[in-house]
Amino acid sequence: MTANTRFEWPAFALALLAFIGVGQARGQAPAATSAAANLEKRGATTQLIVDGKPFLILGGELHNSSSSSLAYMKPIWPRLAAMHLNTVLAPVAWETIEPEEGKFDFGVVDGLVQGARENNLRLVFLWFGSWKNTYSSYVPAWVKGDTQRFPRVQTSDGRDTERLSPFSIANRDADARAFATLMQHVKEIDGGAHTVVMVQVENEVGIIPDSRDRSAAANAAFAAEVPAELTSYMQQHRVALVPEFRAIWEANGSKMSGSWEEVFGKSALTDDLFMSWCYATYIDHVAAAGKAEYPLPMYVNAALIRPNYQPGQYNSGGPLPNSMDIWRAAAPSIDLLSPDIYSDEFAEWCQKYVRPGNSLFIPEARGGAEGAANAFYAFGQVSTIGFSPFAIDSEDATSVTPAPEPGATGRPRGAPIGYAYATLSRLAPLILEKQTTGEIASVVLEGEAQRAARISLGDYTMTVSRPVKLTGDASAAAARASALFLQTGPNEYIVAGSGSAVVTFAASTPGLPIVGIESIDEEFFDGGQWVPGRRLNGDENSQGQVLKLNADDALQGRIYRVRLYRYR
Ligand code: DGJ
Repeated sequence: MTANTRFEWPAFALALLAFIGVGQARGQAPAATSAAANLEKRGATTQLIVDGKPFLILGGELHNSSSSSLAYMKPIWPRLAAMHLNTVLAPVAWETIEPEEGKFDFGVVDGLVQGARENNLRLVFLWFGSWKNTYSSYVPAWVKGDTQRFPRVQTSDGRDTERLSPFSIANRDADARAFATLMQHVKEIDGGAHTVVMVQVENEVGIIPDSRDRSAAANAAFAAEVPAELTSYMQQHRVALVPEFRAIWEANGSKMSGSWEEVFGKSALTDDLFMSWCYATYIDHVAAAGKAEYPLPMYVNAALIRPNYQPGQYNSGGPLPNSMDIWRAAAPSIDLLSPDIYSDEFAEWCQKYVRPGNSLFIPEARGGAEGAANAFYAFGQVSTIGFSPFAIDSEDATSVTPAPEPGATGRPRGAPIGYAYATLSRLAPLILEKQTTGEIASVVLEGEAQRAARISLGDYTMTVSRPVKLTGDASAAAARASALFLQTGPNEYIVAGSGSAVVTFAASTPGLPIVGIESIDEEFFDGGQWVPGRRLNGDENSQGQVLKLNADDALQGRIYRVRLYRYR
C-alpha cells in the first residue's frame, strides 16, 4: 500500500482492513466491543482491561528491526505463539509509515496486525518516533536531512548530535502529526477487534554523554524559571513525592520559584531533572495527539541507572526514579512509567516503579531461565500488568509444550520463558482475581548468594530456600528461582514457580503456634481446568515437612495445592 494521506483511504483498502478485522486463520478475533483497551483500578491494583475483562500481558519484545519486514516476521509469529505468549511488543518506526512528508504507508502496520491475529496474539506497538535509545535513528529521511527545520541536541561547542532537540516545536509537531495519524489508522483497522492493546511512546529517551542539551534554546529554557506547573505539583503532592526527589528539593530550601539551579541546586542531577521536564512535556504532546485519535493506554520506558553512573553516563532526562514526579506532572497523557530491567537486582527495580501513582509494566527484561523466574515474581509480588523479555524472537521456541502426561522426566527443551508462560497463562484468571484482593505473593532468589527469602500471606509466612541437593538443571536452578503463592482458603495455597526451591511454612498470626502440612497435591492442566495428580505427602516432600519445587515442574506443567493446619 503506498502513499495514502491521512484522510484519503481508497475503498479497496478499507474493505481489506474490515476483512482483517473479522477474519482469523487460527484463533478467533476477539468479539468486537465498543471500548478500547484501558487501564482500570480494581481493588488493590490497576489492571489492563481488554474486551471488558482483565488481561495479563505475557509478552515478548522483538528485536528492533524484525517488525520492519512482514516476510521476516512470517515464521516468527507461530514460534511466539508456541512459547505461550499472548502479546508481542513490536516497533513501528516513523520512517516506515511516513516516508514522504504527509504521505502515509500503513502496509507494515496492517501486516503486523494481521500476523498477530492469525496467531491469536495481541500487540503493543512501540512508537519509534523522535527517539530510540536517545538517538533519532528512526525518523524519516526528510526529517534527518533538514537540520535547519528539525534542530538537533547540541554539544557545548555548538555541534549537532544525531538526536532531535526536545526544545523544537517543529520536531514535536511533526512527530505528533505522524503519531496521531498512526493512532487514527489503528482505530480504523482495529477499533473493533482490539488486537493492539497498548502503545509505547518513543524509546529509552535521554541525553548521552552530556547531561543536557547545550543548544541556545535549551540554554534559555535552563536559565528561565522552573515552570509553575511543576512547582505547584510538587507543593500539592509534597508528602507523596518520591523520597529521593523530595530530598533534592528540600535540601535546596523547598523553593517555589527560581531557575532550575536555584530550585534544585547546581549539579548534573539538576540537568537530568530539567531534561526530564523537557522530554516529558514533548512526549505528552505527542501522546495526547495520539490519544485524541484513539485513546489506548500509553507508557514510556526507561533505561535504568547502573551503580554510580552520573547523568549523561546514563540517559539524562529519562523516566528514572529521581524524576518520576516530574514525568507525572509534565505528562498526564502517559499512563505508566516502565522500567527496562536488565539488572541482577530485578526485585529492587520493580519495587522502585510501584511507588504511589505508578503501576508496573516491564516492557524489556532478560529472557532465559532468569526471565522465567522473574516473571513469577513480577506477577505475584508487584502486580505487574505485563512482563516482556527483549529479543523474544531469539528465544528457542522448539518443544515448548509441557508434557501432556504427568510423569515426564528430564530437562525442559526450548525457551524457559515458554514454560513459565504456559503455567502463568493457565493461572491467569486466578492471578488476576488475587491481584485485586491482595491474596497473592511471590519471592525470587536472585543469585547463588541469596540462600533464602521470606514472605507473609494470610496467616502464614513462607520461607523459600535453595535446596541442599539440586534436581534438574542445577546451574540454572542455582542462579535464580522463584515461588508464587495464591491464597485459595484460610489454610490453602496454590504454589507455582521456576527453578528448584524448598518452602517451609510458619504461623504469622496469633493462635496455635506450630504449622503442619496437611497435604500437598500436584495438579495438571487438563481439559481447561486444573486436575489433581498424586498426593505428595511422602519422600517427595520429606514426609510433609516441606514443599519442594523442582526444576522439572515446568516440563510437566505442574503446580501444587498445599493445605496447612496448626497445632501446639
Ligand atoms: C534497550 C532498547 O530499548 C532496545 O530497543 C534494545 O536496543 C535493547 N536495549 C538492546 O539490549
